[in-house]
Amino acid sequence: MTHSGVLPLLDQVAAAVSDAIDRTRPETAGADPVVRRSTHADFQSNAALALAKRLKVRPSDYAAELATALASAPEEAIRSVELSGPGFLNITVPDRAVWRQVAARLGDDRLGVAATEDGRRTVVDYSAPNIAKEMHVGHLRTTIIGDSLARVLDFLGARVIRQNHLGDWGTQFGMLIQYLDEHPDARWRHDDLGGATSAVSALDGLYKTARAAFDADPEFADRARARVVALQAGDPATSARWSEIVAESEKAFRDIYDRLGVLLTPDDNVGESFYNPMLADTIDELVTKGIAVESDGALVVFSETVTGPDDEPVPLMVRKRDGGYGYDTTDLATIRYRIGALRAERLLYVTDSRQALHFQLVFETARRAGWLTEAVEAEHIAYGTVLGPDGKPFKTRALSHSS
Ligand code: ARG
Repeated sequence: MTHSGVLPLLDQVAAAVSDAIDRTRPETAGADPVVRRSTHADFQSNAALALAKRLKVRPSDYAAELATALASAPEEAIRSVELSGPGFLNITVPDRAVWRQVAARLGDDRLGVAATEDGRRTVVDYSAPNIAKEMHVGHLRTTIIGDSLARVLDFLGARVIRQNHLGDWGTQFGMLIQYLDEHPDARWRHDDLGGATSAVSALDGLYKTARAAFDADPEFADRARARVVALQAGDPATSARWSEIVAESEKAFRDIYDRLGVLLTPDDNVGESFYNPMLADTIDELVTKGIAVESDGALVVFSETVTGPDDEPVPLMVRKRDGGYGYDTTDLATIRYRIGALRAERLLYVTDSRQALHFQLVFETARRAGWLTEAVEAEHIAYGTVLGPDGKPFKTRALSHSS
């Protein structure tokens, strides 16, 4: 494919500025657009300064006029224009335009990068904030790093499957739902936030209040526990409220994704609850294969590679003593599903480094179960922990293992 028709970027920008001059002030039509490379943007135009005298206007006024006219310049030539100083225009071109230039010079749309991934089915698990909780800066990092990976691997020819493993399940929802039912005036829905910045922000606050009530009032605590049971049993009213909380939170996250310009869409939302119906089977298989064993009334997988400070093998919790399932169990069902049903050949999990042991144990168990074979690669893409203003890590639901 040839690109001989692609004008140098400077010429494209100059043409757009010339056109803006012609349109705004026909009396100076054909004047030099005075476009140069700039250290403040991609290019700058000094046309307003050069022409102001002839036009008998203030350079900054004319610069503003040109900037407005440039707003209707072709999108592929100009991304943004900013006024600066006495009448300069700082002009940025779209990334695509730079791409086209390089591609034209190389005569290769792929810029010499081969599609080495060759359709490899690659699950990228990223972002994964927790429903009814504020997204924190750690979630911002997984969102950006994961999205970058998804884009690069896609360009390299992989069949990328984005998975947003939202934290949408756990006992904390019983408490929150009970509290919301007892406080029908609480405002948390996006169309009536009562001053909160988003539904998750409002819900996060309400959850903290509910938590305090739970600790202070044994009767509320009992009602909240009963609500957890109702949620797990699929009680219609409780499920409906849960769905509403999830939908409102997902909307709030989507607003953030839109602002960030990441690829994630609602179709990529596959939260923890999605795996609920698969947990029993997953556990059965681990028990039958002799991998999961009883320990103190709980069901665990003892690691064959990692020992704790006491030199004992570290356990992965498959079923808690109270019969509940948590983050570990869900991730076992998840990896089984991604390899079995999604036919993934590579699994990438983007979270901060504190979850390194968790993933190491999940991968080990999946290998022993025969789900994770030589043909599949699993990797935890870890990044450094983001600390809060108190110097402590931001809490994530994963660490509390409370669900
Ligand atoms: N929701 C979790 C957190 O906020 C991250 C989930 C990562 N993905 C996974 N499959 N465990 O820490």
